[in-house]
Amino acid sequence: MQDLDQLRAQALADVAAAASLDQLEAVRVAALGKKGTITGLMKTLGSMGPDERKAAGAALNAARDEIACALDAAKAVMESKALDARLARERIDVTLPGRPETQGRIHPISQTIEEITAIFAQMGFMVAEGPDIEDDFHNFTALNIPPEHPARQMHDTFYFGERPEGGRHLLRTHTSPVQIRTMLSDKPPIRVIVPGRTYRCDSDMTHTPMFHQVEGLIIDETTHMGHLKGCLIEFVRAFFEVDDVPVRFRPSFFPFTEPSAEVDIGCSREGGELKIGPGAGWLEILGCGMVHPNVLRNCGIDPDRYQGFAFGMGVERVAMLKYGIPDLRTFFDSDLRWLKHYGFVPLDVPTLSGGLTR
Ligand code: PHE
Repeated sequence: MQDLDQLRAQALADVAAAASLDQLEAVRVAALGKKGTITGLMKTLGSMGPDERKAAGAALNAARDEIACALDAAKAVMESKALDARLARERIDVTLPGRPETQGRIHPISQTIEEITAIFAQMGFMVAEGPDIEDDFHNFTALNIPPEHPARQMHDTFYFGERPEGGRHLLRTHTSPVQIRTMLSDKPPIRVIVPGRTYRCDSDMTHTPMFHQVEGLIIDETTHMGHLKGCLIEFVRAFFEVDDVPVRFRPSFFPFTEPSAEVDIGCSREGGELKIGPGAGWLEILGCGMVHPNVLRNCGIDPDRYQGFAFGMGVERVAMLKYGIPDLRTFFDSDLRWLKHYGFVPLDVPTLSGGLTR
């Protein structure tokens, strides 16, 4: 066994000299592989006498373990060096802005709808949608606005032609028909918001024939007017990002809610600049109320057991107030300069935790 010390020393020297994982593997095969030098000596153990075998076996095992350990250690060092090199090579500076800089902008309407949705989603509302082309039942009758009701005139409805089976389709004048669709398809408890396009035959400084609303609806057994107020006050504060904004509920009328209210928020106009928050002025921002028992009944929901509230707001209006956009009609001019000015960078997705607007 005089070879052993020499083979061991040679193998350890080879490990130390190996410059790559491949070379290390070659050293391992040469010493400890099936036909390796140390393995070769192991095979001679069988021809030895018992005492000799015992001594030689122990020495061989020690040498084999020593070489295996050296191999492992060298391998670990090489792997960690390779990882360091790769990490250095593939380093990304995540603080750099995206390149090339994004050209497109998110339209303030889309941004505002995202913001409103983020706030109500956190309160547990789901998003529901419905068709822009509606029928009389969903847009009016089921909402407690029977034919000949004066509220129909106020809606300046776009009607389609008479259908062979009678009646005319129309472009929905508000998002409230989706309340009806939701109550007809889902069982209470219901908690939805409905962003969408709405249409009225009206066009001047403060009206466009197409505009956007977000509707809200809660139906369950215990919801009352206090919840309505709490929910909307919370929304207004989160949306306008002003903690002390005064909120006022002013009695109003909608056929589909009873009692009904309009919500105003406080503002000041000092120095000719409109500012949301405590001040002498009020701005109306949305309509709301407790869902009328007739509406529940029209949807097959028992008004003696269930109740709830609904609200609806104009997206353009709250967007104009929040972002200081002076003219409603510019929303729909498709003017790229306007969009560059009032639009939002696509990666700034509004979240409550990250801040709605940055
Ligand atoms: N649909 C009403 C409108 O367009 C708004 C509203 C919705 C009011 C829900 C009360 C409850 O004017």
